[in-house]
Amino acid sequence: MANHGQPSEPTPMPHCLAVPFPTQGHINPILEFSKRLIPKGIRVTLLLTPFISKSISARDRTRISALEIGLETIADGHDEEGCPTGVGAQRFDAYVRTFREIGSKALARLVQRMADSGESVHCIIYDSIIPWCLDVAKEFGILTADFFTQSCAVDAIYYGVREGKVPVGETTGYNFGVIPGLPALERRDLPTLLHDCGPDPDPFGLILGQFSNAEQADWVLCNSVLEVEQEELSWLSNFLPFTTVGPTIPLPYLNNQHDNDDTDLHGLSIFKPFNESTCANWLETKPKHSVVYVSFGSIAGLAADQMEELFWGLRNSNHYFLWVVRQSEESKLPKESELSAAAAAERGLIVRWCSQLEVLASEAVGCFVTHCGWNSTLEGLSLGVPMVAVPQWSDQPTNAKYVKDVWRVGVRVVEGGGGESGAVVGREEIERCLREVMEGESGEEIRRNSEKWKNVIREAAGEGGSSGSNVGDFAASLISKSR
Ligand code: UDX
Repeated sequence: MANHGQPSEPTPMPHCLAVPFPTQGHINPILEFSKRLIPKGIRVTLLLTPFISKSISARDRTRISALEIGLETIADGHDEEGCPTGVGAQRFDAYVRTFREIGSKALARLVQRMADSGESVHCIIYDSIIPWCLDVAKEFGILTADFFTQSCAVDAIYYGVREGKVPVGETTGYNFGVIPGLPALERRDLPTLLHDCGPDPDPFGLILGQFSNAEQADWVLCNSVLEVEQEELSWLSNFLPFTTVGPTIPLPYLNNQHDNDDTDLHGLSIFKPFNESTCANWLETKPKHSVVYVSFGSIAGLAADQMEELFWGLRNSNHYFLWVVRQSEESKLPKESELSAAAAAERGLIVRWCSQLEVLASEAVGCFVTHCGWNSTLEGLSLGVPMVAVPQWSDQPTNAKYVKDVWRVGVRVVEGGGGESGAVVGREEIERCLREVMEGESGEEIRRNSEKWKNVIREAAGEGGSSGSNVGDFAASLISKSR
């Protein structure tokens, strides 16, 4: 019926619940993806577990609310300590089971409560490692976007193993000729959670379970970039409609236009204290490309002797270094006297947590010593920072392989890697890698490659680029399906 000049009812904005797996490396990408949806006319409410919710600062809350993102909590049965940190697949698996049991009921109650109060949910965007979110969404007849946090290469390996398309075992070797683009992998390059592949699927519940119902999702999104993993993505797309929407890094960082505007800051920080200004002030005094930035992300724990070797490798390289050592890791640092000697020489700064993107975007930083968590890898690649890969567990060895041999933006330590139980990487090896990346012809070539990938990714993320268009298409399709 014509409305004869009456103002028409505005179409309500689609409302999404964004449900990350509750660790730093999984919250950041879903939050950053959500931030991109807001200007496209989508409302988002972020769900955090009680532990994460109480860990974030008042400043983060203010930022989230300034971005007009809603915040709600979802119970996981671990109010006091949250998801376990430190390397260990079994502990994760146990946590994941509890979260599924308690979280799915809590999610259903929340969706119902929102519907009752006129805040109906149109879509749940959830981390692929908590596929039970899809089951809850289906109960309510709402849309689902399955968000894969890790790389297409790693997703392709997991998918291929689950579906029996990719052989894994001592006898078959690890050259997955099946997945185009994927380089020949040695055992040390595989995601560590596959090492014990046997008849009992339990250790793989977390990772292979990602594909248990993925084909029912309305969208399958991946925090990667088409140009970065084109063939792997194209292979996966034969089976599931994988769509790349990464990197989930605020555009001002990619465009070298970031400032300290609060709403542009990246992710949420669940670790304290946050030494942002200390880092910025220290970095400001250092020459271009002179600083080695060291971080092992939010989960990995190094053995004390590994911390000592790392410290001496950094020290002996004679480069400046900025090293993130989480509070829970501090007791493993070498003796105080040695550290203060380094500090006195103004060579090294050790902080408990920082704004990693601010640091990586600083001109002073010449190299990133990283555990190769997928976020860190993509952040280093996107900001053109050469890397020294010291992978610990999970997807990190495979990401390290790409850093060294596929994108050629860094080197990987020859021995060791492998977390608390793994072999220690010696100080000489660390020093050798730092020299290779920071100095000489090899360093120059790595820097040229890094610059190349930085430009490729900046293009892809912008309006009209592969990821930029995919984000726009997702928003448009969500708006149209929500009517
Ligand atoms: C985990 C897994 O280890 C990783 O392999 C997987 O792909 C995602 O989940 P995490 O180990 O924490 O994540 O590493 P990473 O993926 O690199 O994520 C860490 C995040 O914390 C990054 O976004 C990084 O920018 C941020 N960070 C790290 C800071 O903001 N400040 C710091 O001081 C250190």
